Order: sequence, then structure tokens, then C-alpha cells
Amino acid sequence: MCGIIGYVGKKTAAPILIDSLKKLEYRGYDSAGICVLNDSLQLQTYKTTGKIADLELVLPRNVGGTIGIGHTRWATHGQPNTENSHPHLSGDIAVVHNGIIENYLEIKEKLIECGYVFKSETDTEVIAHLLHSHLYSNNSGVNSCNSGSQSKKCDLMTAVQGTLRALEGSYAIAVLCSSEPDVMIIARKDSPLVVGIGNGEIFAASDVTAFLKNTTNVVYVDDNEIGLIRGGNVEFFDTDGNKVIKETTTIEWDIEAAEKAGYEHFMLKEIHEQASSVYDTFAGKISELDGTVNLDELNLSDEQIRHLTRIEIIACGTSWNAGLLGKYLFAQLADIHTDVDTGSEFRYGYPVMCGEVLTIAITQSGETADTLAAVRSAKSYGCRAIAITNVVGSTITREIDSVLYTRAGPEIGVAATKSFTAQLITLYMLALHFGRVRGKISAEDSKNLLVALKNIPADIQKILNKKSIIQKCARQFANSSDYFFIGRHLNYPIALEGALKLKEISYIHAEGYAAGELKHGPLALLINKTPVVAIATKGHTYDKILSNIKEVKARDAVVIAVADEDDTEIEKYVDVVLRVPRSHVLLSPILSSVVLQLLAYYTALERGCSIDKPRNLAKSVTVE
Ligand code: G6P
Repeated sequence: MCGIIGYVGKKTAAPILIDSLKKLEYRGYDSAGICVLNDSLQLQTYKTTGKIADLELVLPRNVGGTIGIGHTRWATHGQPNTENSHPHLSGDIAVVHNGIIENYLEIKEKLIECGYVFKSETDTEVIAHLLHSHLYSNNSGVNSCNSGSQSKKCDLMTAVQGTLRALEGSYAIAVLCSSEPDVMIIARKDSPLVVGIGNGEIFAASDVTAFLKNTTNVVYVDDNEIGLIRGGNVEFFDTDGNKVIKETTTIEWDIEAAEKAGYEHFMLKEIHEQASSVYDTFAGKISELDGTVNLDELNLSDEQIRHLTRIEIIACGTSWNAGLLGKYLFAQLADIHTDVDTGSEFRYGYPVMCGEVLTIAITQSGETADTLAAVRSAKSYGCRAIAITNVVGSTITREIDSVLYTRAGPEIGVAATKSFTAQLITLYMLALHFGRVRGKISAEDSKNLLVALKNIPADIQKILNKKSIIQKCARQFANSSDYFFIGRHLNYPIALEGALKLKEISYIHAEGYAAGELKHGPLALLINKTPVVAIATKGHTYDKILSNIKEVKARDAVVIAVADEDDTEIEKYVDVVLRVPRSHVLLSPILSSVVLQLLAYYTALERGCSIDKPRNLAKSVTVE
């Protein structure tokens, strides 16, 4: 997730772009840049790693020009460094982009054959060069991007249309071209883009916070629409060039509310973002047509994967819960035994690391001290170590053999939500990939799983659409002093995560249990009306969890079941049913976890807790 801004008006663009980027910084903050067309009609670009405050330091005084674009980055392709930061240039073209171009490698190869020279590792740079190749004739063979000596084939708008037709994936872009100095072109597909209509000036940004202090009149750009901004006007077109008439709305939020996109808390916003963030995690990596997962960045040969004898997962907190689900997936899909240790236990636990062990560190931040120390210890045994992390360039990425990025975008709420589902998706992909290479899962089964995986964003959206049912349930039990969460097999880690979420933000004592373990102790704690959340989606342990539900009902507990939408049986045994769309049995834990996030959120809301910053907790624990 990154933030983009464009400005076309009469005022000096640079300070406006900087100001807007500060508002967008929550979307990404590892590097930033702006490009303005100065009064001599030259593109002037300033970029740096770090935050917008760092960008201000490299910006000369009095940068002229009244048209410009800017970007604050949360790296997905390539390290957070100056070369990879936006805007990206090709000759007289500058582009900023938020999203993921899935087929960028393919396009990049063709552009390199045509002589384009790439300066960054990003997917975005292909947009700049592709645009350039559409705009200029390339008779000379090698294109040095020196457009001065080349003749234009078409106008910028036509070049943008041609470029977009070739792109697969998601994008919100803003484009400048010094040979059409009064024009900015913007476009979107599956990434947010909104236009602000000011007095003789137009803004385009990833969200309204970027320009809210200048105007509250906005036009929401829809997928596959292109905006042509010139002077104080903007016109919209579809990808075939047909004009689209758009409605202008007036925003009534204040700035603080707008940063949360109107949600009361970042946590709620991040829960909602999962309908698209999970897509970003698997975008460009899965092929449901042949049942394969492409994880080239792993740098593990098929031979190495086949010879693995054990996986050692190291993680803390929510990431550990994701790791436990990973353990079940590696067993079922790839026939690999996995141990899951917390960083703090592994580092002092005299681990046995013989055989071909692959260590997998799971860490949202990439900075958790115990996880880092445990991974260093694991590596000292000579085993290969990979990381699943959300933060490009974080400490773990510099110490590990290879990295799988979860691409969930920055997470601001202390309680992890979208980073957890992104970790789960990554583990599904990894286990599936290992399973295919090791011949443990057929192409057919793999295809079915990937088809269902592609539906997960829509399934999550369906849960979000009915969140009021979850809110009602949360209200009903918000005064409970204890809560239990039970699940079996893949639903057991989800029970643990459900309990963790609830205690983190609502301060209710909550325990997650493997449902079969209830009778070995916890049943003694069940008193009249203690809520027990049973994750009871269909699978091979469904009948077993039904028995556990009957066990707790017999002790007068209240049972809240998380169940499939078409399960009519469950209603007979429980007090409340929270539904998830019917998905592949292996994937329903992802959906159940979204339900439990909402349950925790609404419980904490009801209890008036500090949801985004719970007491005593930190987003990233960088001390032992
Ligand atoms: C803290 C956070 C948790 C997180 C844990 C591990 O405790 O509050 O939400 O799960 O650290 O963080 P990591 O960044 O390593 O996933």
C-alpha cells in the first residue's frame, strides 16, 4: 500500500505535494518522492528513503512549477531505496503508482529487448517505459529514452490507454509528460483514487485526506476509468476513450476521520482492508489454471524442497498463531513435519536442528527482538532460514536467506488483523508450493484450492457486509468477565488468535483451547453464561466439535458458533451463530478469523477501550 498525489493548478506545486504526502504517510513511509514540471518545462524529481520529513530535507528552496506528482512508498517490489522510490521516469514521462503489476517481469523483458534501461527493481518502472514506448516511435532500435530525438506517435492519453491494456494487476497512477506540459493523466484499477475539485485547481490522490484542507468536493474514480486533468478541469473516460460522466460529492469528514477513511478506528479500517489486502498477497503468484504457485524469491531449488526433513517456525504473538496454522498446512499439503516455537522459547530451548531443516521466521514488523535472536540462533546451526514479513527492508530481511513479503500494507492498529490474514495466505501458498514439488498434492486438488483462494477477497467482503450481526453478538456478551475460544485442527490456531484479539483490545480474560482439551481442565471454569466461541466450520473434525459444543452446553455455558452459511444443523445446539461463506475446507479459517476480529473489535468498542493503542502493548516489541 502506497500513497499517491497529483496537483494541477496555479499555486506552486511542491509544497502542496509535500503537505499532501504527509497526510498519506500512514499508507507507507519507507521512501518518498515528488516530480514537478518547472517553469522551463523540465521534469524535476526529488526522491529519498525515509519519511516525508526526510524528503523535505533534500528539496531545494523555491522549487517552481504548478503541476506535479508525489508518492509515499511501502515497498512491495524492491528494497526501500532512492532508486526504487517513485516517481519513475522514462524520458519526458514521470509516473507514480500504487498497486501491483502482476505481469511486470514479462513486460520488463520485452522492454529490455527494445533497449529500455531499468534503474529500479520496481514493477512501476515498466509503466513509465511502456508509456514511453507507446508515445514515441522507436525506429532506432535501442531506445535510450531520449525523447528529444524521437517523434511522437500519439498523444499522452492514447499512450496511457495502450499501456493500461497491457497491464495485469492493480494500479492507481498519475502521469506527467513534459511534452504535454499542461496535462496530467490519472487512472485506476483495484487501487483507490479520488479527485479533489478545487477553485481552479485539481488534486488526485489515494484518499481524500491528501487534499481535504484545500477542497471537500470530490469525485471517486472507478475501476478502468482514466482522468484527463487540464487547467482547473478534469474529464473522465473509459479505457476505450468513451466519455464518462461522474458525480461530485461533498465530504463532511474532518481530517482525522478521513485518515481512517471514515472508520472510527484504524483497526476497523484494517479489518475492512482485508477484502483487498489478501488479494495483494497472492497477486501474481498463483495460477489456478495449472495449480501452481510461483515463489521464485524463495531461491529454494526443487531438490532442496524435496529433501526437507523438518520445518522450524519461529514467531511471536499473532504471527505465532499464523505459524501454528502453517504447521497443519505443511503436514497436510506437503507431508513435512513442522515445529512452531516462540522466539523467546526457541532461543533458550537447546533446539535439535539436525537433518535438512528449513527455518521460517514469521514477523509482521521484521523487528521483533526475540524472533530476530531466535533466527540468528537457528542460523548458527547451519540451516537455511526464510522470513515471512510485511516490512520491506526491516532487520529480518537483512539477516535471512530469502524473504516472502506479505504485502498487506502498513498496519497501524496495535492488534494485528490484515497482517495475520496475509501471513495465512502466504503460508497456504508456501505449503501448496512445497506439496506440488514433493508430489504430495495433485494438480487437480491444487487448482481447486487456488480457485477458492481467489474467492477469499469476495468472501471476506460478504462477512464485512453483515458485520452488524457480529456487533449485536459482541454487545450481548460485552460484560462477560471470561471468554473461551475452541477449535480443532486448522480452527485451533484461529481459536487462539480469537482469544488473543479479545484480550488485547477489550481486556476481557480469554482463553483459546484445542476443543478436545476442554475436559482436561478448562471445563472446571465454565459457569453459567460464560461465552464459549466454537469455530465449527465443516471439515473432518466437525462432528467432534459438535460433541464439544454439547459438552459445554451441558455446563450452562453460552455457545457462539462460527459456522458455514449453509450449516443448518449447528443452530440446534448453540445460542448464536456467526456465519462465514462456504469456502474450501482448508480456507475457512481465514474467514473465521475475520469474524473473530470483528467480535473483538465490537466488544472493545462497547466497553469503551482504547482500541488502536491498547494499554501496555506495543506494535513492535524490539526489546527482549
Ligand atoms: C507485538 C504486537 C503483536 C504481534 C507481536 C509479534 O506483541 O502487539 O500484534 O503479533 O508483537 O510481532 P511481529 O511484528 O514479529 O509479527
